[in-house]
Amino acid sequence: MTMSSLSDEAAAFIQAQRVARLATADSSGRPHVVPVCYAFDGGRFYIPLDEKPKRVLVTHLRRVRNILERAQADLLIDRYDDDWSRLGYALAHCNATLLAPDAPGRAAEHAAAVVALRARYPQYRAMGLEERPLIALEPQSFSLWGPALGASAPMSDPDAIWLQPGRGLDFLPLARGRRSVRSFQSRPVPRAVLEEMLAAAAWAPSPHGRQPWRFVVLTRSEPKARLADAMGDDWRATLAQDGEAAEVVEQRLRRSHQRIQEAPALVLACLYLDDLDRYPDEQRQLAEETMAIQSLGAAIQNLLLAAYALGLDTGWMCAPLFSPATVCAALDLPSSLIPHALIPVGYAARDPKRRPHRLPDELVVRWE
Ligand SMILES: Cc1cc2nc3c(=O)[nH]c(=O)nc-3n(C[C@H](O)[C@H](O)[C@H](O)COP(=O)(O)O)c2cc1C
Repeated sequence: MTMSSLSDEAAAFIQAQRVARLATADSSGRPHVVPVCYAFDGGRFYIPLDEKPKRVLVTHLRRVRNILERAQADLLIDRYDDDWSRLGYALAHCNATLLAPDAPGRAAEHAAAVVALRARYPQYRAMGLEERPLIALEPQSFSLWGPALGASAPMSDPDAIWLQPGRGLDFLPLARGRRSVRSFQSRPVPRAVLEEMLAAAAWAPSPHGRQPWRFVVLTRSEPKARLADAMGDDWRATLAQDGEAAEVVEQRLRRSHQRIQEAPALVLACLYLDDLDRYPDEQRQLAEETMAIQSLGAAIQNLLLAAYALGLDTGWMCAPLFSPATVCAALDLPSSLIPHALIPVGYAARDPKRRPHRLPDELVVRWE
C-alpha cells in the first residue's frame, strides 16, 4: 500500500496507538529492534532520542548508527487484544534520517515534530527535545493487516470513537496542562520559540480576518525595567486613591516589578483597531471593537498554548489595560496600539498552585 492510499482508518489506527517498534539493521544486515514513542503528521514519523543521549552521544545508540549507515528503517505499530477481531498492525517501510534542530531548511519541521510529540506524550515537556536530533521516517509503503484497518471495521467497536480520522494532535492535554505561572527560572527563552509562539498567535480567528492585534517582545533588562517603573508609578497612584496602607502598596508594587523584571521574555499584546470596519452608529462600532477584543483573546490563547506545547510556561498580567498611555510612552509605541495584556514567558521555577476549573457539567447551561 502506498502513502497516498493510506486510509482514514489506518491513519487513525496509527494515531491511536502509543508505542511502536523500530527495526533497523547494520551494514552487515544484523537486525536491531526497540520500542519507541512516535508522532505521525500524516506524512512522516518522528521518534525522539530521549534521556539516555544526555549521557551518551546519540551516535552511540545502535538505532542511530544503523540509520546513519543504511538510511532505512521499518516501524511496526500494532495492537493486541484478547478479542481477536480487534487485532491489527501497520508496518511502515521507511527512508530514515536523523533530523537535527538546526538542519538547513528543516528547523520548522523539527520544531513542529517536538510540538506533536509533546502533545502526545506530556512527559516530553520536561525534556529538552528542542535541542536534540529526532529520527525522521518517511514511509515509502505500508503493510496493513487487521479488521480495524479495513473498511470492514465493525461500527459497534467500543473504540470506534478513537478510529475517527483526527488530525494527529491530542488537544485536551494541552488545554488542560497550560497554567498561569508567576515565577520563572532565569534560563532565557530561545528566539525560535518566541517566533513559533507568535506564528501560532497569527493564526487566531479575527473579525473579517483583519488580525486586529500587534505584539511587542521584550527580552532585554532595560526596557523591562522602564515598563515596570512606569506601570508601577501609575499603580501606586491608583492604590493610594483606594486608601490601601502604604506598606501593602509597596509590597504589591515590589512583587509586580519583580514579575516583570525577572520574566525571561515578555510579550505585550496590543489591540490594533485601524484596519477594522467603521460604522456611523455607536452600537455597531462598539460591536466591531468587542469582536477585536475577543479576537485578541484568541490570539493570546494560541500564544499561551504554543508556549506550553514547546515546554515553556506563561502568565497573564492585565496591568497594561489600566495604563495604556503610560505603557505606550514608556516603550515609545504609537498611540494606534492599545496595550491590553502582558504575557511573561519562561520556564516555570516550580509547579504553581492552580485554582480549580469548573467543568462542562457546570458551564453548559443548556444542551437541547
Ligand atoms: C483577561 C485576564 C487577565 C488576567 N490578569 C491577571 C493578572 O493581572 N495577574 C495574574 O496573576 N493573573 C492574571 N490572569 C490569570 C488568571 O488569574 C488565571 O488564568 C486564572 O486564575 C486561572 O488559572 P490558570 O491560568 O492557571 O488556569 C488573567 C487572566 C485573564 C484571562
